[in-house]
Amino acid sequence: MDDRIVVLGTGGTIAGGSALAGDNVGYRAGERTVQSLLDGLVVAGGPQAPALVAEEVAQIDSKDADAAFWSRLHARCLAHLQDERVRGIVVTHGTDTLEETAWLLSQTLACDKPLVLTCAMRPATAVSPDGPQNLRDAIALASDARALGVSVVCAGAVHAPRHLQKMSPYRVDAFASGDAGPIGWVEEGRLRLVHPWPGLRSDPGSLAQALAADNGAWPWVEIVLSGAGANGRQVEALVAAGVRGIVVAGTGNGTLHHALETALLRAQRAGVQVRVSTRCPLGVVVGMPAHGLPLADGLSPVKARISLMLELMQTAPAP
Ligand code: SIN
Repeated sequence: MDDRIVVLGTGGTIAGGSALAGDNVGYRAGERTVQSLLDGLVVAGGPQAPALVAEEVAQIDSKDADAAFWSRLHARCLAHLQDERVRGIVVTHGTDTLEETAWLLSQTLACDKPLVLTCAMRPATAVSPDGPQNLRDAIALASDARALGVSVVCAGAVHAPRHLQKMSPYRVDAFASGDAGPIGWVEEGRLRLVHPWPGLRSDPGSLAQALAADNGAWPWVEIVLSGAGANGRQVEALVAAGVRGIVVAGTGNGTLHHALETALLRAQRAGVQVRVSTRCPLGVVVGMPAHGLPLADGLSPVKARISLMLELMQTAPAP
């Protein structure tokens, strides 16, 4: 009987509270329980509406998300995906690292049900909070059999994890999907697709096992930025401190300041895995830049970091 939607709470502004009702920025994230977000929420479907089951996974500001948080969330999603009573999963999450969590879950779960992340830009105590509508949209999406796998809904737009990026620190419509655009829209509880639903990652295989077995000690991967006046000192310090991977947000088409490039090539020779992404928010690195360092598969720096951590999780550190 797949008649349940499980709503996993993790904190964020959607569960944020402020002493001043008119204050949209001076609040604490993750103050309210996920059950309190569901209390009184009017969900479409009348008597056919799915049963909602709330579960608190964490109550954090997502800027503080870490490996232990991700391991726990992954484990709870896995358990509910395997429960035949569950039709779909909603995760309430802060906006600040939503794209990392969505990417991580999409790469590590074999999802044959909808798993929808949602969020808010205004706290639950705001005069006009956006969380309740986003949550209603997420529940509608998690009830829709077309929405298989991990997706994100915010301000009515449905995004695929690969393309999702937070674009604004303040606007209610804070996310975009770059050149790809949203997959579709939720309007009055109905999904309107404008692109075919993205294919699922069919077999996360040993990745899921590595994650389930790991209790938070993930491989150390950092992001460095190339720009005018860059140098190699940060990379040298990271290598000396034992970093296992470095993602570099390159300029333009994945180019690097020459001093940083020299340090990164040296780091690679020392056994550190290096991936090159771009600082540009649109498009991907085209062709192969002259430095020859491996590219980040069109991923933004923050998602490339997740992918590299997952890759290194399956590889023993060099002796
Ligand atoms: C957070 O990411 O937890 C706080 C900010 C937000 O949700 O908009």
